[in-house]
Parts: sequence; structure tokens; C-alpha cells
Amino acid sequence: MNDEIAPTLIAAAREAARNAHAPYSSFAVGAALLMTDGSIVTGTNFENASYGLSLCAETVAVARANAEGRLREIVAIGIVGGMMRGGVAHGTDPIRPCGRCRQILNEAAQMGGRDLVVYCGGAEGEAVEAH
Ligand code: THU
Repeated sequence: MNDEIAPTLIAAAREAARNAHAPYSSFAVGAALLMTDGSIVTGTNFENASYGLSLCAETVAVARANAEGRLREIVAIGIVGGMMRGGVAHGTDPIRPCGRCRQILNEAAQMGGRDLVVYCGGAEGEAVEAH
């Protein structure tokens, strides 16, 4: 995968995380999907008072791609997250997708007939490629 892709996806995920709806956890997450045509589809976590039924950023991004009829076109994903303080997300620890998101990402990858490349980052700092 092109070396420019990771920073591009992480930057798009950080931009998306600014729109996270996370009033219950204060943990803002953004996800950015690279599509086969080079375009990017983003998602943020979207919480509600049940908390457990909140939507993760990765799931929202994949559902958004699906709503555009593009479930089979996902090539890579960048995911970032951090605790909000003073309206800004902080922290350098890379976050990892939960079980439900892994299942959703795997099924989308299978349908597209490719292995997804996954980049994980924090709100700040370097991203790592997940294996
Ligand atoms: N969250 C994500 O959106 N993606 C992840 O990979 C980890 C967790 C969200 C769910 C919840 O809104 C908040 O982060 C705290 O767990």
C-alpha cells in the first residue's frame, strides 16, 4: 500500500472525530475508509443513553459506504480515538476495533474479495498498521 495512504486516512479520521457524538464516554473516535476509486468515506462514534447500543465509528463508516452501494469497494481503514478535554481529543495510544466492528469489517472485506489494511492511531501521534 502506498506510504501516503496511512497519513491521509489518519488525518481524515481525525477530522471526522471532531464530529463524534460521544456525550456519555467523552471518547471521540473517527474512522476513514479508503475506497477503490481513491475516495474516502468517514464515520464517527454515535452514542445514546443506552450506551451499550452506541455505534462505533468503524461501523458507521461501513454502513455509510453500504448506503452508497459501495460495500465491496473498501480497501483500507484508518481509525483514531482519544478522550475529549476542553473540546479537543487527546492521547497517543492507538485504538483497536471492537469485536462487532471486526466482524463487520471482515464481512465487507470478504464481499470485496480483498484483505483490508487497518491503520490505528490515537488522537495525536503516529499510527500503526494492525495485523
Ligand atoms: N469506539 C469506537 O467508535 N471505535 C472503537 O474502535 C472503540 C470504541 C467508541 C464506542 C463508544 O462510543 C466510545 O468509543 C467508548 O468506548
